[in-house]
Amino acid sequence: MTLIFGIESSCDETAAAVVEDGQRILSNVIASQVDLHAQYGGVYPELASRAHVEAISVVMDQAISEAGITLNDIDAIAVTRGPGLIGSLLVGVSAAKGLALALDKPLLGINHLEGHVYSLWLTDPERPIEFPVLVLIVSGGHTELLLMHDHGIYERLGGTLDDAAGEAFDKVGRMLGLPFPGGPSIERAAAKGNPTAFDFPRSKLDDSYDFSFSGLKTATLREATVPQSSGKRGASKLERTPALRSGISINDVAASFQKALVDALVTKTARAAAEYHVREILLAGGVSANSALREAMVKQTQLPVRFPPLRLCTDNAAMIAAAGYYRFRAGMRHDLDFDAVPSWQLTTDAYDGV
Ligand code: KG4
Ligand code: ZN
Repeated sequence: MTLIFGIESSCDETAAAVVEDGQRILSNVIASQVDLHAQYGGVYPELASRAHVEAISVVMDQAISEAGITLNDIDAIAVTRGPGLIGSLLVGVSAAKGLALALDKPLLGINHLEGHVYSLWLTDPERPIEFPVLVLIVSGGHTELLLMHDHGIYERLGGTLDDAAGEAFDKVGRMLGLPFPGGPSIERAAAKGNPTAFDFPRSKLDDSYDFSFSGLKTATLREATVPQSSGKRGASKLERTPALRSGISINDVAASFQKALVDALVTKTARAAAEYHVREILLAGGVSANSALREAMVKQTQLPVRFPPLRLCTDNAAMIAAAGYYRFRAGMRHDLDFDAVPSWQLTTDAYDGV
């Protein structure tokens, strides 16, 4: 039995967890900063790192006590090394190093995107995942389509060329005056709206497995808001939160936007799954909580589709511990002097030379 202690602080959740053998969650503690950032309509980096500093030791203590173990029972410590906000990452990385030194335990710096991938290994351990699989990671910062041949072996098929899927949800949510984060707010509004009310554009990168959501965002903005000829210089249209057109149905706009974005995601994912003959499709990341996306993906393909339970879609430390378990098993160990890596792609060679 191997116990991995996971620590996550890459964005706006401070989290710690204990996971057994990469699949059984003994504890999974998350201190969310959503309320702190809601007033700004987005994550405020300086406030985020300060909040991580305040929360981290309590969260770590709680994860150990809820797991019913002592610190000495841990086999290794896995911490998110990147990608993410540098100030936020440093809080988790420093805490993990301190702990590793004090306990004299191995330390592993984990790629946050790989963490999202491994949230699927925590989801249904009785039904082992069979390679090759296609993984769609859709979060606030990333949209990545990966062919995964085996543990740690990734082939990147495509990703977003501009906004991440979650970022598009958050920006459109803010524009429609909905509470932060935009994803869940838009999903709620969309449930009451007509998804065919507006025919928003799907990105036209037909031959590739890349995505683009900025055209959709702009089209939604144009449809829903009053054009502004003169505005504050230097501020983008979205930052100015323009007035909504009178009489427009926010629910219809939300539903049509969500449908366009989901269509783009599931069409390409299903096409890649067929082309590469994968055994299963895995959805991960905050946007994989979206039920319209889940339903559309299942409808679009005959293949088994897996998605994490809601609490494992958004950022958490159990997924970092699960990814850490497979890296630990493969022999990876990091020195205490490793750095955080704010921008870091997930590839087969991701851990070489960083
Ligand atoms: O994975 P995550 O917690 O953080 C990152 O690594 O970025 O993802 C957060 C993102 C936010 O953009 C949020 O709006 C989006 O996930 N999200 C959703 C839903 N729940 C969270 N987007 C669409 N529908 C949802 N139900
Ligand atoms: Zn994430």
